[in-house]
Amino acid sequence: MSTNQVQIFDTTLRDGEQVPGCKLNTKQKLIIAEKLDLLGVDIIEAGFPVSSPGDFNSVSEIAKLVKNATVCGLTRAVKKDIEVAADALKHAKKPRIHTGIGTSESHIKYKFNSNKEAIIERAVKAVSYAKTFVEDVEFYAEDAGRTDNEFLAQVCEAVIKAGATVLNIPDTTGYCLPEEYGAKIKYLKENVTGIDKAILSCHCHNDLGLATANSIAGAINGARQIECTINGIGERAGNTSLEEVTMILKQHPYLNLNTNINSKMLTDISHLVSDSMGMVVQPNKAIVGSNAFAHSSGIHQDGVIKNRETYEIIDPAEVGVNESSIILTARSGRAALAYRAKNVGYELTKLELDKVYSEFLNFADKKKEVIDEDIHQIMKLTGIVK
Ligand code: KIV
Ligand code: ZN
Repeated sequence: MSTNQVQIFDTTLRDGEQVPGCKLNTKQKLIIAEKLDLLGVDIIEAGFPVSSPGDFNSVSEIAKLVKNATVCGLTRAVKKDIEVAADALKHAKKPRIHTGIGTSESHIKYKFNSNKEAIIERAVKAVSYAKTFVEDVEFYAEDAGRTDNEFLAQVCEAVIKAGATVLNIPDTTGYCLPEEYGAKIKYLKENVTGIDKAILSCHCHNDLGLATANSIAGAINGARQIECTINGIGERAGNTSLEEVTMILKQHPYLNLNTNINSKMLTDISHLVSDSMGMVVQPNKAIVGSNAFAHSSGIHQDGVIKNRETYEIIDPAEVGVNESSIILTARSGRAALAYRAKNVGYELTKLELDKVYSEFLNFADKKKEVIDEDIHQIMKLTGIVK
């Protein structure tokens, strides 16, 4: 693997599926897993096998189905969880166990009623035990975002010695600022003995709307895996959005950070996940929202019609959208009206356009959007067609 390659770890089926009311059945999970594999994700986190028999079954079926990606199962730092995950993953071509424990002051005190030494001991035991089943073991330091860097480095060093291949540094509560999260990754890169033996992974939640920015800051500072979900779904305000991080890396080639993602599949898989979960994507969602390539104000429309690059930083075809759309509203100008009229068969002269435009504004002031049928009616009302 090139050192500039960023592994994409998709957790739509585990952290993503923790969204209230968005439960998927095994069949739906298999369809999504197959698509994720085709999309080019490197790791599919298929579920939390010990959590329920249904989840165990889904992980097990996904492990049998997936051809290219590593298939991963989540566990707590608990013996039984690890045994169950290993069993669920036994048919995977490339299995990974993802185990871990909370490392922040509040997790140690309130969740575990424990102390730092005991937490390190449990972390090491969990990784060593997982290693008896699979070669590829990822360790998560839950709430790493609020864990003091010195202690986090001690935990990382201990689990690398125990055989962890990936170190997940979750900003579980979505609290960090990008500068702070980037500095945390940099600190670990520079202060953990043996760090070259493991990959640092970003796992950022979106409570302050910073999950994507934090993940990118992590990658710029040396992380080589990003954990994310389709449409950014997940607990509370969600996880890092796969489509956002992968397109950021693609649209900024000078960062020299590459992924294996086939971006042309992004819109299609976004629709699949949204439909399967019954979870609507907000129209203004970056990359995959229905308005992501829609232009509705006159100034923007005029620019885009002259040259797409005036107001678009991504060619819509790159993410699987046929073309950008020009929406007719009361804010639209003559250029947009002429363009849309031409699309439905009316090549207007300048004089005709002037005549039609005032009738168009009458329509537009009464409606949210002027559609193709309205254009035909405007042409009749203005005598352009009989
Ligand atoms: O957000 C988080 O800390 C997690 C871990 C369980 C990996 O999802
Ligand atoms: Zn999470």
